Amino acid sequence: MEKSNIGLIGLAVMGENLALNIEGHGYQVSLYNRPHRSGPEMVDVFLENRGNGKKFVATYTISDFVGSLERPRKIMMMIKAGEPVEEMIEQLIPYLEPGDVIIDGGNSDFRDTERRYRYLLSKGIWFVGAGVSGGETGALHGPSIMPGGAPEAWEIVRPFLQDIAAHLDDGTPCCSWMGSGGAGHFVKMVHNGIEYGDMQLIAEAYMILKSHAKMNNEIMADIFEQWNRGELNSYLIGITSHILRFKDSDGSFLIEHIRDSAGQKGTGKWSVEAALDVDEPLSLISEAVFARFISRWKEVREKASVLYPPEKKEGKEHDLPSESVRQALFAAKLVSYAQGFSLLKNASELYGWNIDLSSVATIWRKGCIIRAGFLKEIAHAYSGMEKPENLLFNDWFRDHVNNALPAWRKIVSRSAMSGIPVPCMSSALVYFDMLRQKRSGAALIQAQRDYFGAHTYERTDAPQGEFFHTDWTGTGGNTVSGSYTV
Ligand code: 6PG
Repeated sequence: MEKSNIGLIGLAVMGENLALNIEGHGYQVSLYNRPHRSGPEMVDVFLENRGNGKKFVATYTISDFVGSLERPRKIMMMIKAGEPVEEMIEQLIPYLEPGDVIIDGGNSDFRDTERRYRYLLSKGIWFVGAGVSGGETGALHGPSIMPGGAPEAWEIVRPFLQDIAAHLDDGTPCCSWMGSGGAGHFVKMVHNGIEYGDMQLIAEAYMILKSHAKMNNEIMADIFEQWNRGELNSYLIGITSHILRFKDSDGSFLIEHIRDSAGQKGTGKWSVEAALDVDEPLSLISEAVFARFISRWKEVREKASVLYPPEKKEGKEHDLPSESVRQALFAAKLVSYAQGFSLLKNASELYGWNIDLSSVATIWRKGCIIRAGFLKEIAHAYSGMEKPENLLFNDWFRDHVNNALPAWRKIVSRSAMSGIPVPCMSSALVYFDMLRQKRSGAALIQAQRDYFGAHTYERTDAPQGEFFHTDWTGTGGNTVSGSYTV
């Protein structure tokens, strides 16, 4: 029998759609799914339904699966991150030969990908950790794909990955090489972290419109729809208006029946951990992750809401124009992307990945969950010879942040006065104000550290790197603690 071009393991929602996407681009695809303890084989169920009449080859053992593939073998795993990936790699290894490629298309932790890449390299097998974004529709019609890992694999997998990815109007595929080792999954992790931030910001805007401006779902849906036609144009804003309008079977708005406890599968949390590892003040995404944690304290929040009922409001209701909310949302979003790209930049330098930030912004313009009109500006900002140290230093960013600043401050302060929590809008403002603060309160922190622990400080009138200690109380000695900073 004719050998297949690609092998795909895992027929859950993403795997199934990706298989159809690959086949639809003219490739013959061999399929394998881990045997289920009960029930029919997933491969058979798929081939009897959506896969019917297409160029798929059903396989039921790893050896048949691997044996059905042309060389070098290209095997894409669309299975749950963690132990299942570990086990599948071990099952594949005995059947593979040097030069074969394994692609992990799940949301794996980049630290695992880094380790697996090295492990497989020692066996001559090329490992690629590819972030795939876009949900089930994206997987079927063209996701954004962020591959990284063994550079030797790129030319082997490039044709089919770029074929199945989303394409910009000028034909650019939303798939390019992110870097070696864990770079691809790192970029996908930051994508998801930014996704958490965007979703929390939208939720904050929704709560301001709902609780402060007392708007109903239809009006809010209209507003999000209108925002989606302007500079906030993005997939997540678009689906928000659809969600707000959506009716349950009894004709009531479905959103009103959804429990306000957000789940999470880990990538947001990993972004925060990664930021801590590279000393990155990723405050907005961190707040978004914490907001999901606190959302799950449903019973605690209910008790607290009785213990601390809302204070009597001062000031008028209905006096926060939706345009101000839009501007606050947009400015905070710009800060979030500045933070996310700063994390990518610094991690790339630390881990030696050489990630092209312009490419990242470009492949996020279509196919993925955070796709948005303004990513074009970020791609542009990083495409020149002079790369901005921080996106907030870019002219386009500066103009837009300055323009939104008065409304942004008003929304954050009015929300605080009204007891509406806006953790991401306000932490973004704090980050912005700290970033542009020429002289900060850290001088006092240094003085305190030296006071109680002889940790030393640098002086403004001496070269940086020269450390001083003062006997603040007259009872200390001259012995100093180390002045290193971790
Ligand atoms: C994507 C999504 C996808 C998934 C998230 C959900 O890019 O297609 O990000 O990867 O929907 O992992 O993450 P949480 O369950 O953590 O919200």
